[in-house]
Amino acid sequence: MNLKTLIAGLLASVTMVGAANAASLAIVSGDTGTGLQFLQSELDLFKAESGHDVTIVPMPSSTSDQFGQYRLWLAAGNADIDVYQTDVIWAPQLADQLVDLTEAAKDVVGVHFPSVIESQTVNGKLVAVPGFTDAPALFYRKDLLEKHGKEVPKTWVELHQTAKAIMDAERAEGNKDMWGYVFQANAYEGLTCNALEWVNAYGGGQIIEADGTISINNEQAVAALEEAASWIGTIAPEGVLAYGEEEARGVWQLGNSVFMRNWPYAYALSNSADAPVKGKFDVAPLPAGEGPGAKASGTLGGWNFAVSKYSKEVDAATELALFLASEGSQKRRAISQNNLPTVQTLYKDADVLAAAPFMAAWEEIFKNAVPRPSAPTQASYNEASSLFWSAVHNTLSGNGSAAENLEVLEIDLTDLLAK
Ligand code: GLC
Repeated sequence: MNLKTLIAGLLASVTMVGAANAASLAIVSGDTGTGLQFLQSELDLFKAESGHDVTIVPMPSSTSDQFGQYRLWLAAGNADIDVYQTDVIWAPQLADQLVDLTEAAKDVVGVHFPSVIESQTVNGKLVAVPGFTDAPALFYRKDLLEKHGKEVPKTWVELHQTAKAIMDAERAEGNKDMWGYVFQANAYEGLTCNALEWVNAYGGGQIIEADGTISINNEQAVAALEEAASWIGTIAPEGVLAYGEEEARGVWQLGNSVFMRNWPYAYALSNSADAPVKGKFDVAPLPAGEGPGAKASGTLGGWNFAVSKYSKEVDAATELALFLASEGSQKRRAISQNNLPTVQTLYKDADVLAAAPFMAAWEEIFKNAVPRPSAPTQASYNEASSLFWSAVHNTLSGNGSAAENLEVLEIDLTDLLAK
């Protein structure tokens, strides 16, 4: 055997070992903006590091649409999907169908905020590892506030007034497409997030409290929803009733709204080279409500990586989930997507803060964010949330008053949770 044949033989066996260990995985993920492109770039790095090939199964950006599909797939024992990108609220609902990552993640859980790890732990089982956390922001046009001599609003009523004043003045100057405020009011989980913030900001509780008490039918919650209903067709287009995150961002990013409620991902995109609002905006905490118990409030969001119990490649899939939750991946994500890390040290990381200066302040905001009642409702969360967003959507659409809709909602939630 000459040297050339020997080397060729050695190379072939190395490749074969590599091939034998290399798995083909599928990860399913919906996302907003350029999230899926970013995920692909991470999968390329993962392949270089581990040899595992990963295909993305893309999903719509609405978390409610994703959940509906995933629940069906998991119930059917789908073995084609190895890793799921999961919303923070899903853990208790999908726990039985996901692999326990406690042992695999034991050396790395300590770098994450304990509250996030807790949110993904169901009866002692770690059902997903964190990719990023989320807490909303009030995006505002610095240039327009300055031009019209206005301050960043501190209450929702002030927001209404400021939005109206600037919108009217801009329209009078010929800026016909200008709106005051865009947010997420389609009938889906995003509306639950928005409306929980309004209710909580008005001192109206968290829909269902941690001890299971159904608290939503109260005067402060009514006041909050009445205020929000007054925005439709005045400072917000009627079309907002069909907006998710991306539709709101579309209007805002083109320069057609003074304010927007959105998650941090919209910060990076609004600053992209071709964005008309680039350099003209900043972010602030969402405004406070009015009346007893009023405060500023934002809903806690976030996404995680979970391994399907039906995966045929649990080890490689676990490696992938841990890779996507790692400090390195979260840092790249924070810089490119402006998603909030769950790795605590990244809030002091100079590269992260240079890419997203607002993040220094968002650590506190995320820590104080109000959780949706997924823990007290467990497997019924999605149905409970859907009853809530429907009651709110009806109120915003002028289908019944806030008081009537919340009264019916209380009855429906009581029935649901009694089951
Ligand atoms: C964001 C949040 C997620 C929430 C969703 C609602 O993606 O991170 O937790 O459910 O928005 O639209």
